Amino acid sequence: MSKKKEFYGPKKVIYICEGGTCKKKGSKEIYKMYKKGTKVFGIKNDEVEVVRMHCTDRCNFAPVMAFQPENKWCAKVTLGKAEELFKEKILGEENKSSE
Ligand code: FES
Repeated sequence: MSKKKEFYGPKKVIYICEGGTCKKKGSKEIYKMYKKGTKVFGIKNDEVEVVRMHCTDRCNFAPVMAFQPENKWCAKVTLGKAEELFKEKILGEENKSSE
């Protein structure tokens, strides 16, 4: 007998654009960092889910990412900035961020 999975919505979702322009400017590496980070810190999918999205028509600001539910959109995100945001938004180290 197979186990049925319950439908759930995560508490937080991080959307990372992987459209062509964002990908060229490093979004794939950001996505990998976030997936690895959630795994390393043992963050479950029902807590935080990292989702790739298609182009959002903000290519001039690539790479683009967004944090929900606070609806914080970030432009021209570098790997260093993405790491800071991970600490702040996912690990809750808000006071340590140099934003
Ligand atoms: S490719 Fe990311 S906003 Fe267009």
